[in-house]
Amino acid sequence: MKVIQCADANAGSRAAFDLLAQELKAGAKVWGLATGSTPLGLYQDICASDLDLTSLTSINLDEYVGIPADNPQSYHYFMRKHLFNAKPFKQSFLPDGTNLNTEEVTQNYERLLRKYPIDVQILGIGRNGHIGFNEPGTGFDSKTHKVKLTPSTIKANARFFTNPAKVPQYAYTMGIGSIMQAKKIILLAFGASKADAIDQAVQGTVTTAVPASVLQNHPNVTVIVDKAASAKLK
Ligand code: GLP
Repeated sequence: MKVIQCADANAGSRAAFDLLAQELKAGAKVWGLATGSTPLGLYQDICASDLDLTSLTSINLDEYVGIPADNPQSYHYFMRKHLFNAKPFKQSFLPDGTNLNTEEVTQNYERLLRKYPIDVQILGIGRNGHIGFNEPGTGFDSKTHKVKLTPSTIKANARFFTNPAKVPQYAYTMGIGSIMQAKKIILLAFGASKADAIDQAVQGTVTTAVPASVLQNHPNVTVIVDKAASAKLK
């Protein structure tokens, strides 16, 4: 695991942008993308750049169950707003949150991941160490599945919803095993609220209680942190 410590989120986003640009040059064809506030700076840098993504495939980590793609709270909407409208990919995939047939959605997604293996996966991290929507306790060999979100994740995500009672309770997410298939992983974490999760993920015991700790088992991971998120790293 390589850790890059940056002064602030802007510098961290720029470091991630540089890595992605390198990967693109080196021939990466499939990017795995994440939502949340953490990758926003990176997406802004991509939108402002002259990178041409029209030969790339993107595959997102997760989507809420039960909200349509044109709902501003959906991750489909988020990705269009923050990246795809300005920088179209050849094709972009997210789990279909409107399809309530879990078997179908999850099997389709795993089929997609076999067809388009991810060259480089961008990850954020939840305050409890979750990646994608893989909450503590999720098996390291898990594939794409439906999850019931934990109260802490629902609370953390309530800030994106005008009516906190409307935060969805379920999501489809790539599993930890699906994420670990990516050839390269770039984990981003900015701000003091991520310091404990980064401490446990990077230098703690590898345990399903901290989903991101599994990344210690992956051969090609770069963690990009700002000062506040890396405060507990030795
Ligand atoms: C959500 C997403 C994760 C993301 C996490 C952290 O739960 N499913 O992919 O990493 O939130 O979000 P933020 O970057 O806003 O702190």
